[in-house]
Amino acid sequence: MKVCTSLPRTAMPVSVFVLAVQLVLLAYGGQASDNVKRCKLFSESTTEVKALSLLEPLTNKSFSVDVKNDKESYTYRFQVCGEAGKTAGAGLVQIDQSAKEVETVIGLYTVTQAIGGSDWVMLIYRNGTKYDGHCSKEMRKAIVMISCNRKVDMGELRVVLEDRDKERDCFYLFELDSSAVCPALPSQLSAGSIILIIGFVVLSVYLIAGFLYQRLVVGAKGVEQFPNYVFWTQVGNLAADGCNFVCRTRGPEEEPPTYSGVSTEPEEEPEERDDHLLPM
Ligand SMILES: *[C@@H]1O[C@H](CO)[C@@H](O)[C@H](O)[C@H]1NC(C)=O
Ligand SMILES: *[C@@H]1O[C@H](CO)[C@@H](O)[C@H](O)[C@H]1NC(C)=O
Repeated sequence: MKVCTSLPRTAMPVSVFVLAVQLVLLAYGGQASDNVKRCKLFSESTTEVKALSLLEPLTNKSFSVDVKNDKESYTYRFQVCGEAGKTAGAGLVQIDQSAKEVETVIGLYTVTQAIGGSDWVMLIYRNGTKYDGHCSKEMRKAIVMISCNRKVDMGELRVVLEDRDKERDCFYLFELDSSAVCPALPSQLSAGSIILIIGFVVLSVYLIAGFLYQRLVVGAKGVEQFPNYVFWTQVGNLAADGCNFVCRTRGPEEEPPTYSGVSTEPEEEPEERDDHLLPM
């Protein structure tokens, strides 16, 4: 009779399990935006796509740095896979503050190369504005060295040098610190341990809430305060039956024949006889 009344409540462990799965999916979904896809790798490879994908947290942010000396005053603007200036496709521009804000494109994010190391990513933008006299009048090129620094999400952009006193392969070199390119710490929680922790928390909540419900609402006593007691004892019995079936070496046909009502609990009978004997 008890089995029938408790059956609707067996839905509770199932819904708890579904909730746990949803929590795990929530923790791992969510970060699906792909702003780095706006960068066009001119010779695409899986390693370059992987290096570029590390820079996703740095997208949609404009970095800028001012450089001043006696004669000149420049501002450099940089975006990861986004418009840095007025020119379409320009990912890194130089603005001449002393000459009516003339914009010179240092590199286009539509002609990108991404090289990834253990704790750095080198982002190269090519096809910038052509040099007037230097470097055989080739197109400008920007190299941004993004290095791991766990202390900052997005650091300051720094100008390192402009290497242009040569015949070709001139470049502007920049540096940026970010935790985005850091290797994963081995001590960080793995997916498996997160699932274990969530499972443990859900189980504790289930036990405590179920205990309180059984005790306060249903008014159960003793071991029946355990939530879904009948369900879990059935599970236990099934498991025991399964183990019995799998583990026992002796097959059921070898069991000695039993007679109803006699051999089920044979050791109780001598005790009863002793009790009768005692008063005599
Ligand atoms: C980044 O900017 C693009 C276009 O400017 C926009 O579509 C996208 O939703 C933005 N993403 C984030 C994460 O802000
Ligand atoms: C970049 O420059 C190269 C020549 O150096 C040219 O072949 C290529 O089409 C250019 N790409 C873009 C997107 O302008």
